[in-house]
Amino acid sequence: MNLKTLNDTANALVANGKGILAADESTGTIAKRFAAIGVENTEPNRRDYRELMFTAPGVEKFISGVIQYDETARQKGAKGNMLWETLTKRGIIPGIKVDKGTIDMPLSPNEKVTEGLDGLGKRLDEYKALGCRFAKWRAVITIGKGLPTEACLRKNADLLAHYAAICQDKDVVPIVEPEVLMDGDHTQQRCFEVTEQTLHIVFEALRHHGVALEGILLKPNMVISADKCPQQASVDQVAAETLRLFRRTVPAAVPGIVFLSGGQSDEVASAHLGAMNRMGGGPWKLSFSYGRALQHAPQHAWKGQAANVAAAQQAFLHRAKMNTAAALGKYTSAMEKEPVGV
Ligand code: 13P
Repeated sequence: MNLKTLNDTANALVANGKGILAADESTGTIAKRFAAIGVENTEPNRRDYRELMFTAPGVEKFISGVIQYDETARQKGAKGNMLWETLTKRGIIPGIKVDKGTIDMPLSPNEKVTEGLDGLGKRLDEYKALGCRFAKWRAVITIGKGLPTEACLRKNADLLAHYAAICQDKDVVPIVEPEVLMDGDHTQQRCFEVTEQTLHIVFEALRHHGVALEGILLKPNMVISADKCPQQASVDQVAAETLRLFRRTVPAAVPGIVFLSGGQSDEVASAHLGAMNRMGGGPWKLSFSYGRALQHAPQHAWKGQAANVAAAQQAFLHRAKMNTAAALGKYTSAMEKEPVGV
């Protein structure tokens, strides 16, 4: 393990207000996104869609890295170039989702456990040859009656830590993603309790596996009210509680926390990140690794039409720019109306 390489990569991914585009939807998940905009889920359509984001003019000012799905990591663009080389030519770091999705937790079918450790070292060797310098593994934690179970938290933390150790052994920065879902009617306080418990167990597991915290990025949920909770926490309450939680649980050695958007609307995801950085007070960089909150707008502008590519790129750049402003603590809702002007 080369800790300097790992730390340099992790720092580069959160430098200057930049953040990560999570474009690693599995073929099944992108099918749902495409269905919503009336686009057929074919390989050329997936290629064209992702290529339009990777080639948006000036994207490298806001986006430091892209998490790809296996297909994209091996895919050529419309002109025959490797898509990952399109990224590296712009100074954007290619990354790769390496988990293989979730299955029901044995004996607790309302919870999930993530698969994908088998052969991971060999797969990382292959991905490194395809330019990848960081990876992602997502664990899913469900809040419900009697949930999460201790077994689910411990199993997922152990898998995350083992994955992170394998990545660091290959000098690939692991993004450690324990996502506490916002589905349900639980309060912000309950989200706080479960996320706190989750992060304590995850960092304990990382320590047991010898993972160097200077060479990871944490990708967590924010501390928010569940989508169906009647009492919704305000933007400032979310920011304050999320910061309070991370000060308790995330060691200062971690270079950056890159949030998932998890179903928050585009503007709310930017507002939460912006408020946290305005309040400040943590030793780590706070940035974004958004999937839906970066892609919803460009998908709806594109709708699979070549004639809409430029408009879709502008919609994507706008969201990327808003989130970079948020990571720098400069975001205001008034900025949403500004032209992109990259
Ligand atoms: P969302 O921002 O849409 O939650 O996606 C981020 C991600 O990578 C989930 O694993």
